[in-house]
Amino acid sequence: MFDHERVIIERGRRSGLPIVVAVHSTSLGQAIGGCRFAEYPDWRDALTDALRLSAAMSDKSALAGLPNGGGKTVVAGPPEARTEALLDAGDLIASLGGTYATGPDVGTGPDDMRLISTRTPHVFCRPRSEGGSGDSSVHTAIGVIAALRAVCAERFGTPDLSARSFALLGVGHVGAHLAEALLDAGATLTVSDVDPSRRVEGAKWVTPDECLTADADVLIPAALGGLLTPAVVPRLRCAAIAGPANNQLDDPGTALDLHRAGILWAPDVVVSAGGIIHAVGQELLHLSPAGIDARLAGIEERLTEIFHDARAAAITPAEAARRRALALIAAGADRPASPRR
Ligand code: PHE
Repeated sequence: MFDHERVIIERGRRSGLPIVVAVHSTSLGQAIGGCRFAEYPDWRDALTDALRLSAAMSDKSALAGLPNGGGKTVVAGPPEARTEALLDAGDLIASLGGTYATGPDVGTGPDDMRLISTRTPHVFCRPRSEGGSGDSSVHTAIGVIAALRAVCAERFGTPDLSARSFALLGVGHVGAHLAEALLDAGATLTVSDVDPSRRVEGAKWVTPDECLTADADVLIPAALGGLLTPAVVPRLRCAAIAGPANNQLDDPGTALDLHRAGILWAPDVVVSAGGIIHAVGQELLHLSPAGIDARLAGIEERLTEIFHDARAAAITPAEAARRRALALIAAGADRPASPRR
């Protein structure tokens, strides 16, 4: 079923690269979602990624209680044409007239948002020195820690992280903050990254495959998505999975495979919401730092409720989250459009 409001794919005027902007839903307000810059074997793969990632953003915004819908930008190309491609993306986003605003994602950061802002005002997370909310990775990590507390309470009967072991797959911006927070909490940590320079002192370093299949209480996917497949599930030795990577399941049906294998999977759309909570909280809702912290901490309660819903209805947490998001989005569709940024 095609349920996106609008999808534009264009060959960038400056870069010649394929640029996709997918607006999935504006039922709750302006669609938001980051700008991904990555190489794909084929432009159709970039389109597929944009479609899936933008739909997930609708659920993420709704479940985070934000007055926003979901969208995503994907720029497919080699890093050489980066500046031109991001300016092209800015023009395309500008043409949408504020129905969609972008932000950082895999392969982009605050400096790229500044560049995009020369073409459109509809961009979050410009550098702090320029009045934006800057890098949101530390806030994403704070949200993940809140989620891990809910996961440990559900799976092990206590939210205390100190007694637990974690396998962290991916030590990028968010992963590095997570490693620090988990070690500070006294947890046992195994880490891995494709980049060998990202070793973490105090943690055991293993290969990505060893990390994925590590005998740990909780696996934390913090790199690219699509890692949880029906073929991988029988190899997993963790009791639960929760992390900030977007679209961790290769297919929604894999949630059931995990459930049947006795592995608690926390929906990534809930776990990874810290970044948008911070960016929207600061730039759009003008919340105080304490107000933003309260909303980040709220991820623990939100996830706990979803686990309860799932148990009560004998469904997976993924399905429980989906139902909640759909109800929130449907309620929003009945309302007059909320003011846009
Ligand atoms: N990469 C962010 C996410 O997936 C996207 C984003 C961050 C969008 C901040 C807007 C503002 O949630």
